[in-house]
Amino acid sequence: MSEIEVMDTSAIGGCDPEAAICARGIVRDFQAGQSTIRVLHGIDTDIRSGEMTYVVGESGSGKTTLISIMCGILWPTEGAVRVFGTDIYSLSDTELVNFRLNNIGFIFQQYNLIPSIDAAANAAVPLIAKGVPVGEAREKAIELLEALNIGDQANKLPRQLSGGQQQRVAIARALVHEPRLVVCDEPTAALDARSGRRVMDLLREVAVAPDRACIIVTHDNRIFDLADRILVLEDGRVTHDGTEMPDDH
Ligand SMILES: Nc1ncnc2c1ncn2[C@@H]1O[C@H](COP(=O)(O)OP(=O)(O)O)[C@@H](O)[C@H]1O
Ligand SMILES: [Mg+2]
Repeated sequence: MSEIEVMDTSAIGGCDPEAAICARGIVRDFQAGQSTIRVLHGIDTDIRSGEMTYVVGESGSGKTTLISIMCGILWPTEGAVRVFGTDIYSLSDTELVNFRLNNIGFIFQQYNLIPSIDAAANAAVPLIAKGVPVGEAREKAIELLEALNIGDQANKLPRQLSGGQQQRVAIARALVHEPRLVVCDEPTAALDARSGRRVMDLLREVAVAPDRACIIVTHDNRIFDLADRILVLEDGRVTHDGTEMPDDH
């Protein structure tokens, strides 16, 4: 959390009280040497509960930046984000960490597994961080690994697992504490079609409910049919918001 940016949180308005996420005026700049690059150009969007929302767009269009801002891990340069009614960038650092722990699960493109502990322990991390006894946390983690078809890998270290297996451990870790918001960056990229479907089925089962929401960043056209809603991002702007992919993609 080293990003310290000047930002204006007064811009939040017109949020649907039912929305899982209400993002208003999201701008994000990155410094590249002497120049500033604007990666997101004032995004306004609501993510609804009870839906699986896809964020689709070419590499470099700002997808990872946007979802990182939506789930409280990257500060916007301007704008505000309300998650389940809380303006997350108005919280103190500690409050934000706790908010994430209690409400949000994310799956990064890099799985960020801890190399020195086994798959079950990695998947159990959010529960242990919340103070659940280790044995109980491990049991719950193993249940999820089983649902993802890698129960037999529970005692292996990350380096002993294939890329697809590591990805499923990261998915188990994102779901284990049953967060209300699940955010996944390319969750099926390293998986064959069948494992990809299984992951998507599990995500829907766990992460989509009247009071829950799920955001998926994906290029994977094998799973486009599973979205309730698709946002297309082009050069840091939302250019399509609908229930299906636009015709020209
Ligand atoms: N930490 C960073 N510093 C500088 N530029 C960045 C940083 N993160 C992302 N960018 C740039 O922002 C743009 C959008 O990146 P990203 O959100 O990762 O896109 P996507 O996930 O759609 O591929 C890219 O041009 C990328 O190079
Ligand atoms: Mg990305």
